[in-house]
Amino acid sequence: MLYHEAKQLLQKIGQEHLLSYYETLTKEEKESLLSQIENTDWTVLSNFAHPEDLSGKGEIEPIEGLTLPMIAKRKEEFKAVGVEAIQKGKVGAILLAGGQGTRLGSDHPKGTYNIGVTRDLYIFECLVNNLLDVCKETGVSVPLYVMTSDKNHAETVAFFEEHNFFGYDSSFVKFFKQDMAPAVDFEGKVILEGKGKIALSPNGNGGWFSSLVRAGLLSDVKERGIEWLNVFAVDNVCQRIADPAFVGATILTGVDCGAKAVVKAEPHEKVGVLCLEDKKPSIVEYYELSEEMAQARNEDGSLKYRYGVILNYLFSLKSLERIQNAKIPVHVVKKKVPYLAEDGSLVKPEKENGCKFETLVLDMIKLMDACLPYEVERSFEFAPIKNKTGVDSVESARALLEKNGVLL
Ligand code: UTP
Repeated sequence: MLYHEAKQLLQKIGQEHLLSYYETLTKEEKESLLSQIENTDWTVLSNFAHPEDLSGKGEIEPIEGLTLPMIAKRKEEFKAVGVEAIQKGKVGAILLAGGQGTRLGSDHPKGTYNIGVTRDLYIFECLVNNLLDVCKETGVSVPLYVMTSDKNHAETVAFFEEHNFFGYDSSFVKFFKQDMAPAVDFEGKVILEGKGKIALSPNGNGGWFSSLVRAGLLSDVKERGIEWLNVFAVDNVCQRIADPAFVGATILTGVDCGAKAVVKAEPHEKVGVLCLEDKKPSIVEYYELSEEMAQARNEDGSLKYRYGVILNYLFSLKSLERIQNAKIPVHVVKKKVPYLAEDGSLVKPEKENGCKFETLVLDMIKLMDACLPYEVERSFEFAPIKNKTGVDSVESARALLEKNGVLL
């Protein structure tokens, strides 16, 4: 793209300040900036001026799922079907590791965080260990696709290599990058991170399938004969991945999608809840539930809206291909965005100073015909690391890992 073309484009969208330092840049920096301008999807900015109404608008009802006692009764049957599917190579895993983990406050990929106490134990290592349990149980390796972003790709790949993939067969591991989106300040102006560098950040975890396809990995998925993809977050160190019973239960229920869920600890717990919205599966935010709904109980005293999702979903490949071109809403999220100060230095703000544009995997659930809530025990499977201390932190995850017999 030529300078005057970039200028024209930016003028149209009110972002011409991005060229303020153009004349001071080297030839390479100029080229790089023009290429960033050319390759950025500017359409997301319209979501800042006109944010979508993302609140649930349909009729919300509780959804039927599998509770712990129901699962316990049929565990062997579920497991047998899941093990068979895994042994036939029908199940792959997708590790969502493209986020920036700003709440944890580390500049490195979240998975490289060392949560060990008496020894090194990295978040990636915990996840690989969990997956290795399934490999041991089934006698096969589960293909693992790791989503990264421009910001952390090289470091993530190097980390896996340095640590010899934590004992995983590296021919079963593939990395792919997600797309980036520009970040804006509270006035909607795109932030500069350097004189020739636009503040770009990963565009949320909702684009994982399209990024996988764009990276050319759909053919790998198909060649391997994968029919189910288990998507999971990097930060829940206790989660079970490609869990045979979960896979079997989803297959036997005859649905295209399963969601691991924990029962809400109390009616107002701040988790997204799997429900039906206009008879279709949907994840409703805690603040979208009315007081009456939050408190509603079944005859046995359990909460009607009980299934809190933990970002561990199993999707059939068929359903993913079906919804591939469907529109997923864009969320405008307040975040801390490093920016170029007037003196030319890079400032890492203490508080949120801007907004990022993100699509979320939970919005894919709405596009499914059905989704099976599959209850798991919080104390075994839910130890997310979002913060350094307090709730959902390194501390709380360590406590749970110890409870589950992991040496720290
Ligand atoms: P979070 O919502 O916790 O976001 O991601 P984050 O970026 O990691 O952390 P904060 O909010 O800045 O502290 C949930 C999961 O989705 C992945 C994360 O890596 C994590 O596994 N994710 C998030 C992506 O893969 N890409 C993204 O753009 C955002």
